This record gives sequence, structure tokens and C-alpha cells, in this order.
Amino acid sequence: MNSKNKEIRIDAVSKISGKEKYLRDLNFPNRLLATTIRSARASALIKRIEFAKNFDWSDITIISAKDIPNNSVAIIKNDMPFLAENQVNYLGEPIILLAAESLEKLELAKSKIKVEYENLPAILSIEQSENSRNKKNIFENITIKKGDFPKAKKRADFIIKEEFATGYQEHIYLEPQVAMAIPEGNTIHIFGSMQCPYYVQKAMDELFQGTGIKTDVTQTPTGGAFGGKEDFPSLICGHSALLARKAKRPVLLSYSREEDVKFTTKRHPSKIIGTAAVTKSGKILGLEIELKLDSGAYSTLSPVVLARAVLCGAGCYNIPNVEISGLALKTNKISCGAFRGFGAPQAFFAIEMLIDKIARKLNLSPLEVRKKNLLKLNDKMPTGQPINYSFGLRKCLENVLKKSDFERKYLEYKNFNEIQGRQKKLLKGIGLSTVFHGAGFTGIGENRIRAIAEIELVSGGKIIIRTANTEMGQGLDTAFKIIVSNRLNIPFSDILIEDKNTSKVPNSGPTVASRSTMIVGKLLLDNCDKILKKFIEKDINSEKKLSFSEKAKKYHKKFGNLKVKAKYKHPDFIKFDEKNYTGYGYPVYSWSASIAEIEIDLVTYQVKVKKFYTSHDIGKAINYQQSVGQILGGTVQGVGFAIYEDMPMNKGEIQNSGFVDYIIPTTMDIPKIDVDIVEEPYFFGPEGAKALGELPFVGVAPAIAAAVSQSVGETIRELPITPEKIQKIL
Ligand code: MTE
Ligand code: MOS
Repeated sequence: MNSKNKEIRIDAVSKISGKEKYLRDLNFPNRLLATTIRSARASALIKRIEFAKNFDWSDITIISAKDIPNNSVAIIKNDMPFLAENQVNYLGEPIILLAAESLEKLELAKSKIKVEYENLPAILSIEQSENSRNKKNIFENITIKKGDFPKAKKRADFIIKEEFATGYQEHIYLEPQVAMAIPEGNTIHIFGSMQCPYYVQKAMDELFQGTGIKTDVTQTPTGGAFGGKEDFPSLICGHSALLARKAKRPVLLSYSREEDVKFTTKRHPSKIIGTAAVTKSGKILGLEIELKLDSGAYSTLSPVVLARAVLCGAGCYNIPNVEISGLALKTNKISCGAFRGFGAPQAFFAIEMLIDKIARKLNLSPLEVRKKNLLKLNDKMPTGQPINYSFGLRKCLENVLKKSDFERKYLEYKNFNEIQGRQKKLLKGIGLSTVFHGAGFTGIGENRIRAIAEIELVSGGKIIIRTANTEMGQGLDTAFKIIVSNRLNIPFSDILIEDKNTSKVPNSGPTVASRSTMIVGKLLLDNCDKILKKFIEKDINSEKKLSFSEKAKKYHKKFGNLKVKAKYKHPDFIKFDEKNYTGYGYPVYSWSASIAEIEIDLVTYQVKVKKFYTSHDIGKAINYQQSVGQILGGTVQGVGFAIYEDMPMNKGEIQNSGFVDYIIPTTMDIPKIDVDIVEEPYFFGPEGAKALGELPFVGVAPAIAAAVSQSVGETIRELPITPEKIQKIL
């Protein structure tokens, strides 16, 4: 049963009314503005940087690589410099930073700087990178093996092989990247629109190591992030801090939409070859997936994006013999990073389309192929992980099949396309996808983070929640309040949320991997229990009829504030071997099944998504309305990825510059979306909750592509499915 609590999101009114103050809205006296001088080449040596002699530089603050104490951004491999020194590795790479009173002044100064380059060969595609046979171009290499794929190939009736590709995707959050640094003596206070204050803190600690400078980092209200503000803020917060240190004044570094579209992280383009060894009846005996990600110039988060991608390689299928290999490859292009789904959308597109191809080849419906191979309770993942709890996939599938009347429509549209389609200048299609999202960090990541969350009981019996997890539109602050309010039985008004400032909150880990409600929410529950236990210990509980609030006030009067902390560790049975890729890739999975109905206009070749049915098993909808909101938003973003969002590149330069030429779905393009939530509880999540945030995105493009495949009579192999591609197929 769904619990349909009706709490309003606590940030709803301020955001909808336009009253919320984002960083750009704040008026800081005395602040300078900043800009970035970028590489005009994809791969080159910097021979000389010339500052015009007949220009007054006295009121311009200039930072180049030689002004930087430790010139590498701490992310994973720390291979990206804050500013390029001798060599540039992608078009748009920052080389020099300027700060001045006004944008006009900055523009003028910019035109007075000339960078001289000596071109180097540039690697501009996955193929080129792979063919270079240079080990340095491989950022990460992962293999998963189960059973004996070559043997399965010998036993199979059919070998079905196909190559798939997906393109860039831009986050297009409403608020472009922005950072502000305010110097105060030996401290620099850093503010920014970000997901992970402690990632930025770590990068700042390493940047200023040995200089005696201290920093603290505060998240400002964040107008969307979607993974785009996971690693990138570390770079620009560093930029603003370097300028502020030198200028001894506050510095605001605010990206324009064009800068953001062209020069910030994107979803990794991918090339994936899938080979299936199949029996006549449609049973998949073996599967090989060769997955390659275009990482761009620096490794940033690519190793972990690749890890998630390979762990999704075999999809929701129980296949006895599996070989999955993944490469994250360096190219001389913009670095790719986190984006809702984090490698899963690419992998699921490939496996789901391979299922479509198998169905086509064997003349079965895609549903029949699923019925023969879909995971059931107690089956195992390719890593050997048993799926023996919190498994709602089959229920999700039943729900969407029933709601959409899939089987009847599948035949109806087949007939329509064959008999009337061309005449009516219209094709119809219905497509299905079944996907999962591993909840939280991959492998034993959580045991490394050792997240800490804190709660404090203060005067008036109020509770302060202290975590580093950020609100970026997903409704986290409200979810946290609901969890605490339900456990302690106190009103929202008695719960306060501490600023996301690294000097005030403990490190509860980053707001990524859809982990916050499940992992950090659980820590808050544990903290609530600690408080209740303390009441018993201190005999506050003896008068049973008192409300929590009254007991809290009583406690406070006698003993003062009560601060409790909880530290996260996975349950002991959750183990993962990072070398061999065996064991629990994730502590638990969230599941979803989706069905898309589409039409193709045979005059314009544009795909239109008419209806979308989706059912999600998220363990427990902590906030039902907001959970539906996440599913709607993820669906719309997925429609964009599937058919609209196209980011062509020419010689390493992104050709789009903003909303005019980067087409995302508008309200006119959004299908009717039918959302259903299944709650198969996860014992170790708060109230049974597991991951929600990213899952809604993952199954959308595969369902749409399957529907398009039905209508054009051929498996779709490439995203986005633009009219040009449809025309070519037809
Ligand atoms: N929803 C909104 N409105 N805005 C966002 O930026 N980011 C997504 C998802 N939903 C995002 C969002 C991504 S990429 C992640 S990882 C999760 O939210 C993170 O939040 P959670 O840990 O609270 O699920
Ligand atoms: Mo989400 S891509 O893990 O920030």
C-alpha cells in the first residue's frame, strides 16, 4: 500500500513564487566579477601568452597556472589542473582567470590577451582513442565474468550481434554554474550552487595545502543539478577562491548559459557492442557486452561512471554466461561527468535494444523474450549477487502491462503500420523497458565514506538536523523532515535544517547516487532512536502521556542540549570484490518497468511520445507526491535524451550554445504520464526506502526506442532518435 502523506515541500513556496535568493541574486558590496580565458584548440602546446602593453592592467586581477599553489583538482585521479600550464587538452580548457569591477572591463581585458599555440594531434572519437593503443588514453578498464561465454556461443542456435551508440547530454539545469569566494584574513569562505560541499572542501584543502589558508564551503540554493554539480563546482570554486585570495576582495564567477552548455561536464557518449547467444525458443545462454565511454580530456568521475555502466551491462536478465568489459577512454574534448543515471542509461539502452533485436530475429514479441529471461527472486546478478530481497520488478511489469493494455496494442499497431500507416502518413509503436538502479554508491563505496549525520535537541524541544546533503529540487530537505517527524512524532515546525556549510555540518557524504534518503535518512532515524533511548535512560519517559515535545522540553530544562551522531556502515553481508567485480555491486536495487506509446509523422519524421506508463519499486515513498514528481521529471528528461537532445561536435567544439539550439522537451512535447509506485521494502532503509532520484530517467529512452523500433520495423541503434535518423531508416 502506498502511504499518501500530504506534506508540502518546504522549499516549494519560495521557489515557485520566485522569492528564493540564488547566489546571483545576492548583493555583495565590493565584489568583483570574473571571467575565464579558454583554449581555442583541442590539443596544443601553449607557446606564449601575451598581455597587450598599451592597456592598463592595474585594476585587473590575473591568475595563471604559476599562481596556483597545487594545480590539480582533487576528484578521483586528480589529473585535471585548475588552469592549463604548458599544454591544453580540450577546446575551452581554462588557461587564465580575470577579475574586475565590471563585465565590460573584463571583455575588454580579454581582447587584450593573445595565446599562441603549437598544435598537437587531437583525439576526437572513441575509435581514435582506442586505436591510438596508448595505455595513457585508458582512464579505466573493468571486466565482469560469469560462466563461460565462448562455450555458450557454441551451444546457441543464434548469435545476435549489434552495435549501439549514445550521444552527449547536457544537464540544462535552470541555474548555470556559479561560485563566489569571500576572503577574510587567512580564511576564504566559498559559496556555490553545488551537490557536494565536502567534495569542494577536499578540493580546496588540496589546492591551498601548505599556504596556511583555510576555507569553508557553503551550498547556496541550487537551481537544479542532475549530476552536473557533482564534480564541476570543485573547479570553479577553486577559480573564484584563487582570484579572491589575490584581489583580497569577494569574487563572483558566474557562467553564462553558453559557457555552461559548451564548457561544463556532459553525459558520456558511448559505443556498445552486444553479442547474445540465444536458443530457438528465445532463451539467452550467453551475453557479451563491450562498452566504451568517451570520457573527454580528464578522468574526473569516469572510473565510477564506468563501474556503474558495466554493473548494468546484463540488464534485468538472468543469463548464465556473461562477459562484460568496459573502457573509459580519453579524448581531446570536454570532460564528461555525472548525469542522472551515471552510466546506467547508456548500458540499459544497449541491452534493451539487444533484446528487441533478439525478438525481431526470432519473430517473438519483446515481452516473450523477457518472459523467458527476466530475473526472478533468488536469481543472481553477473557479479554473483543474489536478488533475494526487495525485488519488485515483476510487480512493476505486471502493472504497466495491465494499465497500457500492451499485448493488444502491440498487435494493433503492427497491423496499423502494415495496412494503413503509409497511407495515413503515420506510424505507431509501443515499446517496453525493464531496468534497475543500484541504490547508493557502487561496491563498498559507502564503507569508505563512513557518512556521519547529526541531530541536536535544543531549547524549546526543537530538533536541528545536520547533514551535508543538499536540496537541489529532488525534495531531500522535506524527506528528511518527514523521516524525523514520523519517528519522533513532532511537527515540521519543530525541526530545523542546518545550513549546508562544511564548518557547521558533519560529512554525511555527497548528494549523488540517489543515496541521500536511503543512507543518510537511515542515519537520522538512528539518531532519533538515540534520543528516545536517552529519554529512557534519564527517566524522562516515565510519564507516558507526555508528547515528544513536552519530554524534549523537560529534558532540555534538566540537561541542556543533546547532540547525537550516527555513522554509516553497510550491513555485514554486503561485500564487494573490487578487483574481480564479484559480490554486492549495490546493497539493494530499485526497479522499474515502463511502456511508451509513440507516433511518427511521415512528413516530418518527428517522433511524438503520446503516452508513457511507468511503475517504480522504490521500497517506500517517503513523500508520495514528491516521489511522483521525481518520476515525472525523470521521464521528461528521458524523453529529451531519447528523441530531442542532440549535441553535435565539430573538431572538438560543441555546436550548441543554449536553449535556442539545444532542444529539450517543452510542455507541448510531454506525453501523458501514468505513474505507479510499488513498495517492496528494504530492511536497512528508513521506513523501507531505497533509491529513487535517478531511476525514473533510466528506462525512458529504451522504452521509446523500442516503440520506435516497432514502428519502423528495425531495431534502433543510436540515441537521440532525430528525424534525420528516422528518415534514413525509412
Ligand atoms: N531532481 C531534481 N529536481 N533536481 C536534481 O538536480 N538530481 C538527480 C535526482 N533528482 C536532481 C533530481 C540526481 S543526478 C540524483 S543522484 C538524485 O536526485 C540525488 O538526490 P537524492 O540522493 O536525494 O536522491
Ligand atoms: Mo547523480 S548523477 O548521482 O548526481
